Amino acid sequence: MAEELHIAQGGKEEKYALLYKQIEAVTGSESDTIANMANVAAMIHHTFGFWWTGFYRVIDGTLVLGPFQGPLACSRIAYGRGVCGTAWKESTTQVVPDVEQFPGHIACSSASKSEIVVPIIKNGAVTAVLDIDSEHLATFDGTDRQWLEKIVELL
Ligand code: SME
Repeated sequence: MAEELHIAQGGKEEKYALLYKQIEAVTGSESDTIANMANVAAMIHHTFGFWWTGFYRVIDGTLVLGPFQGPLACSRIAYGRGVCGTAWKESTTQVVPDVEQFPGHIACSSASKSEIVVPIIKNGAVTAVLDIDSEHLATFDGTDRQWLEKIVELL
C-alpha cells in the first residue's frame, strides 16, 4: 500500500515536472494572458483528465469566467462566495477534499467531488484564480498545490 502510494505520488510529481517545462515553453513565447490561460487550462486538463479546469478573472469587482476546459460553468462569482471567491478573499490556495463539506460551495456540476483553487497574485492583489474540479473525492494534495502555485506564476 505504501509502495503503491509512493508510485502514484511519484507519477504525479513526474507529470507535473514535465507539464511545468511545457507550460514554461508555451507561455514564455506568448505575451497575451488569455491565450496563455487557454493553453494552460488545456495542458493541465488533458495531462490529468480532470473534470473541469479553468480560470476566473477579477473584472470590475467580480470573478468572471475565463478560458476553461470541461462542461459549462457559472459565468460570475462574487467576492468571498464559494471556493473561488474564498481563494480571492483570502489570497490563498483552497484545497477542498469534499466539496459538500465546504460551506457555500457553488455547485456548477453535481459531478464535482473535490476541488483546488489557486489565486494568481500580481503586486499584492488577486487578478484571477485557477479552479480545478475532480469527479473523485480528495484528488488534490500538497503536491498539486505546490506545482499549481508555481505554474500560475508563469502567467
Ligand atoms: N465550485 C466553484 C465554482 C466554479 S465551478 O466549480 C467551475 C466554487 O465554489 O467557487
